[in-house]
Amino acid sequence: MTEPTARNDVLQNQNMHDMYRPEYHFTPPSNWMNDPNGMVFFEGEYHLFYQYNPKATVWGPMHWGHAVSKDLINWQHLPIALHPDEQGMIFSGSAVVDWNNSAGFGEKALIAIFTYNKDHLETQNLAFSTDKARTWTKYADNPVIAHPGNLNDFRDPKVFWHEDHWVMCLAAGDTILFYTSTNLKQWEPSGSFGGGYGSTNGVWETPDLFKIPLDDGSDSRWVLTVGVGNGGPAGGSGTQYFIGAFDGERFVSENPREVILWADHGADYYAPQSWNDEPNSRRMMLGWMSNWHYAKVTPTFTWRGVFSIPRELSLTQTTNGIRLAHKPVRELEKLRNIHYHWRPTAIQPGLNLLDGLQGKALEIAAEFQIAKNVKCFGFCVRVGMDERTIISYRVKEKTLQLDRTLSGKVEFADAFAAVHSVELQPVDNLISLQIFVDSSSIEVFANHGLAVLTDCIFPSDHSQGLELFTEGGQVILNSLDIYQLDPAKFHN
Ligand code: FRU
Repeated sequence: MTEPTARNDVLQNQNMHDMYRPEYHFTPPSNWMNDPNGMVFFEGEYHLFYQYNPKATVWGPMHWGHAVSKDLINWQHLPIALHPDEQGMIFSGSAVVDWNNSAGFGEKALIAIFTYNKDHLETQNLAFSTDKARTWTKYADNPVIAHPGNLNDFRDPKVFWHEDHWVMCLAAGDTILFYTSTNLKQWEPSGSFGGGYGSTNGVWETPDLFKIPLDDGSDSRWVLTVGVGNGGPAGGSGTQYFIGAFDGERFVSENPREVILWADHGADYYAPQSWNDEPNSRRMMLGWMSNWHYAKVTPTFTWRGVFSIPRELSLTQTTNGIRLAHKPVRELEKLRNIHYHWRPTAIQPGLNLLDGLQGKALEIAAEFQIAKNVKCFGFCVRVGMDERTIISYRVKEKTLQLDRTLSGKVEFADAFAAVHSVELQPVDNLISLQIFVDSSSIEVFANHGLAVLTDCIFPSDHSQGLELFTEGGQVILNSLDIYQLDPAKFHN
């Protein structure tokens, strides 16, 4: 036996903390990651860039890390795409394929539009690649939009092609600014939205804007998503959205200014972005699964930062108005391995149908019919001796809850141990839940994505039990499917 050394301690620590490395969610190879950036599909590859500090597990001089995937599930890590330089750090932004060579950088050049941040001054800039995003050149005449002088926050350009011109959405305080261009180099201000709409409890960041179908697709709306740095639905940062019209120059909300719509009611879904040029015309988004309230102290060791599963967006007419629905992309079905299926059955209080089942990477899909007397029903996942994460529907209150107070490590930040909830109306007396469990996260999609709760958790590795419970009376389980999920492949 050898005496423990500092090095052994480090290794032991490393193993302990690596149990939080997800099986199928995207994480950086090492060190710090925050927002997704530059998401675009080009010649068979989904590109994913990200805010990256390659030198430490905390935020620092920002780079754009880079990965590509053919199927949104398995990812190849590529070298860093954009490094900071004398003009500043590389903050968030987007990427487009310049199909018509409008900027003159080359046929089908990939162009990244990003914010330089230097001494808190922010400008908008270009970099381009003509080799499928493997190498990048910064535009010699940067910036393409100079700092306006009167704004501290002026960042995160989301650019897309609209009919006959480029559109840029930019976050500026509690406002989104719109610009138009025909060549990505000269930009004209075309309008703004905000100034009192929605949640203004924190700085607005990382906008996205797109048109998506409503219900059966015979109608559509524009959706503007906006990260809010503070005052989110579960405390700290959160993602709100607006529904309305966009005429190529400015966005108009169809809801009054006091309406606040949250894309996700968990604590860990921030700065989401959608892919430009998705080949199947789907609008697919993923977000950073963290929260600025505690992002820098989550208990991982060699890496920090993880992205949600990609979600396909649509709009649904509800009794409260039109709402955004998020569904896990169908590609995730590739991960399904061992399948457990239950026929319709009545669940009685005090019995656990899932006794003996274990899992750390799981998909759970269930439909419940609410019966008389039942007060509350749901699942416990990542259950161990004294750990559990509880997903429950409270019938009288009509709320879906995600309780991570006993989920494992929770003391590293104030208010991490919390119950997050969202209002959820049963449809024909039914509640459906689709739940994705991984090493350190839970994503709950209820009633076909109309309510979503995304939370990080840090349970012990051996807490892998499952429970199905009801309180107050029986609940009818119309269907239940549980899949053990295979790990995704992440390689260099
Ligand atoms: C959002 C954000 C962006 C900024 C980036 C810096 O999380 O604050 O507004 O560009 O992170 O890393």
